[in-house]
Amino acid sequence: NPLLSCLLPSIQDKLDSTLWHFLEQAATAAQERGWHLYLVGGAVRDLLLSRSTNTILLQDIDLVVDGFHQSADVGAGVELANRLREIYPQAKLSIHGEFQTAALLWHKDPNLGSLWVDIATARTEFYPYPAANPEVEASSIRQDLYRRDFTINALAVRLTSPSEGELLDYFGGVLDLRSHQIKVLHSNSFIEDPTRIYRAVRFAVRLGFKIEARTEEYIRFAVSSGIYERLRETNHPAPALTTRLKAELKYILAAPYWKSAIQLLDHLEALKCLHSDLVLTDQLEWQLRYLSRWLKILDPTEYLEHWLMRLEVLIASLKPTERVKIANYLQLPKDSIDRLQQLETVEQEIQQLSINLKKSEVVLLLRRYKLPTLIIIACRSHPENRRLIWSHITKWSKTQAPIDGNVLKKMGYKPSPQFKEILDRLLCATLDEEIKDRMAAEEFVRSHYPIK
Ligand code: CTP
Repeated sequence: NPLLSCLLPSIQDKLDSTLWHFLEQAATAAQERGWHLYLVGGAVRDLLLSRSTNTILLQDIDLVVDGFHQSADVGAGVELANRLREIYPQAKLSIHGEFQTAALLWHKDPNLGSLWVDIATARTEFYPYPAANPEVEASSIRQDLYRRDFTINALAVRLTSPSEGELLDYFGGVLDLRSHQIKVLHSNSFIEDPTRIYRAVRFAVRLGFKIEARTEEYIRFAVSSGIYERLRETNHPAPALTTRLKAELKYILAAPYWKSAIQLLDHLEALKCLHSDLVLTDQLEWQLRYLSRWLKILDPTEYLEHWLMRLEVLIASLKPTERVKIANYLQLPKDSIDRLQQLETVEQEIQQLSINLKKSEVVLLLRRYKLPTLIIIACRSHPENRRLIWSHITKWSKTQAPIDGNVLKKMGYKPSPQFKEILDRLLCATLDEEIKDRMAAEEFVRSHYPIK
């Protein structure tokens, strides 16, 4: 039985008034068509969790339309979205025919800020085979909630009358919110959708919840069944699942809690969903720690994609032959795939690195590689090489010779391919402190390259 309680006043208090007004408009439009409208998923979870009396910022809202006495027509969600678009012409409307859902988007709107509202018709999803994309059919709100991932995400608040404000909690979500549990609704959940393992971990770490014991068993069963490997190897059903898996990985690896999330994934042996050999060894954990420290200092504005580099370090721990397979499977950007592909060769080349080399030799060796490659190599290197790479990036690679090509011209040298050689030798001599100032540099050039 649904737990009856009128939540509307407390929701209204916690929402920004413009957003609240939008929900009222949506409810009225649904009601006029003889439908019910529900606020579902993460928004309900977060509203119930929020203890603060301040308004909470919701940027992502899920609404579900359902019929009054029978299921709504499959197109109801899309029709409602179209109507709301008339009321809010500044919103962008996008429709996903396949799933019969529509989304209204506001980008930095003066009143609503950046907001994404998904509107779907209550639906049942059939998974024609494990991890497939669901096939969709109109259904009642209960069925719609039953297809969801965790009890805490399977709550709905009715926005239409009668009994507006009623909280629908068919699966014990409120109890699990109170007892801080992540719990699936049925034993097949992870087989149907492997990305839910990553979601379970994400919610557990983010909210400070525990994965309920039975749910953990289901995760372990799903992982040990080898289903993910078979999916990967046959590359079936491919794109959509991979995209969702990558999105979840990004979410986890970009979050401030990424370290605890990886540790929990490893504890659940769920890194094996990516590759059966992937385990978080102490060594790998150290590499990730170095990566974070380096990125914090070398790339504070996050010009590089830190989450992706974390993923690359994880993948780099696999055998060279497996790295590119996984990178391709996850459809990583070309740069990442190239880096992982070249890693073995680069690491062999870097073996020449030693503290006995002159600074100039280090620079000539390392300047061939781009910053992300150097950072990843450094994290995987032994301390001596790591120190050399650090010095190269932070100091030596920025060194300039006291004179440049213009000075060479003034000295009477004619621009030619030899210029580069001269400038390189000057740079090396500067790095190795054989020359310190302009006079010494000019002297150096004249003695090594006399003008005929
Ligand atoms: N959902 C699901 N299975 C998935 C992804 C999503 O059942 N693999 C359902 C959940 O009910 C979830 C809702 O779809 O609450 C919306 O998904 P999403 O926006 O990804 O998650 P939120 O719960 O809103 O989480 P967040 O606050 O992190 O965005």
